[in-house]
Amino acid sequence: MMDLLIPDKTHDESRQGEALMLEQTPDKYNGRKLYIESYGCAMNFSDSEIVASILLERGFETTKDFNNADVIFINTCSIRENAEQRVRNRLREFTIAKVKNPGMIVGVLGCMAERLKAKFLEEEKLVDVVVGPDAYRDLPNLIDKVDDGQKAVNVLLSREETYADINPVRLNSNGINAFVSIMRGCDNMCSFCVVPFTRGRERSRDPFSIVKECTDLFNQGYREVTLLGQNVDSYKWKPEPTESEEISLSEIKGANFANLLEMVAQISPELRIRFSTSHPKDITDEVLYTMAKHDNICKYIHLPVQSGNSRVLDIMNRTYDREWYMNRVEAIRRIIPGCAISTDVIAGFCTETEEEHQDTLSMMDFVQYDYAYMFMYSERPGTLAAKRFTDDIPDAVKNRRLKEIVVKQQQHSHLRLQEKVGKVQRVLIEGFSKKSNLDYCGRADNNAMVVFPVSEDYKPGQYVNVLVDRCTTATLLGTVV
Ligand code: SAH
Ligand code: SF4
Ligand code: F3S
Repeated sequence: MMDLLIPDKTHDESRQGEALMLEQTPDKYNGRKLYIESYGCAMNFSDSEIVASILLERGFETTKDFNNADVIFINTCSIRENAEQRVRNRLREFTIAKVKNPGMIVGVLGCMAERLKAKFLEEEKLVDVVVGPDAYRDLPNLIDKVDDGQKAVNVLLSREETYADINPVRLNSNGINAFVSIMRGCDNMCSFCVVPFTRGRERSRDPFSIVKECTDLFNQGYREVTLLGQNVDSYKWKPEPTESEEISLSEIKGANFANLLEMVAQISPELRIRFSTSHPKDITDEVLYTMAKHDNICKYIHLPVQSGNSRVLDIMNRTYDREWYMNRVEAIRRIIPGCAISTDVIAGFCTETEEEHQDTLSMMDFVQYDYAYMFMYSERPGTLAAKRFTDDIPDAVKNRRLKEIVVKQQQHSHLRLQEKVGKVQRVLIEGFSKKSNLDYCGRADNNAMVVFPVSEDYKPGQYVNVLVDRCTTATLLGTVV
């Protein structure tokens, strides 16, 4: 689990349409307490902010203590078996609270809800509601059903839903960084991956609603937005055909990811832009040139490689090979010198040989990633790999390969940090450092965490230039210059 999600503030009193909403709001919701906890990727954390927004509009309040809640939602992840196990363990704690307080509603949201559907209610008898990622608008209705003594399920996936009009309540926010969803679902069929099944077809959100959300965030004092999608490079928006042919053709022609980046970058030079995740098959030179052109687009790309071997990439259905990936890395180095690159790696995919594992290690040597998320392959029911291949690499071997990958990455991460010692980094101050209120922390453009002494001259949300004088295994340390 990442952090517990608690809104920094409840309702935005000034929100348009509020009066109308309140008129429609039945009193029964007013003051009911919602507790929501999120697992998995940033998408899920962002979705929880949409869920909170939908329920706060109806009069709910949030609580930090699940024992006090009227409704407990757990927004779940299915990506690996251990992710699901963690959710089930946590659910036990919630259902114990429910036994003490039978009026409490316990609901399961997100990818596990979508994967297991109504089966969840058989497996976990104390769960009342199961809601998939495209059905959150239906939550008030589903809660009504539970209030009437029924169990409620909505796991319909949609081809259109992007929640574009919903103004997310920022949960657990520092008021400086925010996630902004730009698309939903995934049309790739990586053979190991459950996401296309849990999140449905890919669809892109209207760019104007994205720019508006980012502008509003900037006006509220936020200084960094992270644009989210499973494959941001395939962002593609086309306007709905309008009655007036002339307007639709001349004014709005549609947007790809480079166009969207450009639009968001123009909001303000003081607003930093990050994005995740880039797909090696789809990342274009146009995107790289747009990044190079705008100082406020952070020079950091998360480019999951998964494996360094072309045969393994082929059976993973990643649709690129080793050479293609290396070529993309070379393009990044050429167009954006000094750009940081991070990755995801899977150890011990079906039939992976020792030599093929070595190819992953040599790919890591080639790129020298700044950072990596590294996993043992975990078979997911229903995926192409589960249907086509045997999960034949013994756990001990997967484990050993993963360790080799982790050790190599630690060396590279340290090397990448050491390169920055003696140089000045532009840092957006996020708050006090984890360890001490005498230090501030914030990220450099390249995503490295930087820690430096607090001073009255600057505060969170401001940019400072920090001269780095040393580093630990994960952090740069320095002083403001
Ligand atoms: N959309 C992103 C990844 C989303 S899932 C992309 O295309 O790269 C995040 C990461 O989880 C993946 O990159 C992959 O490394 C890992 N992952 C996904 N399914 C997995 C599985 N079945 N076993 C182990 N790791 C997995
Ligand atoms: Fe999964 Fe592949 Fe889609 Fe990423 S691109 S979410 S790994 S199917
Ligand atoms: Fe997990 Fe669903 Fe994200 S499976 S990684 S929460 S899209």
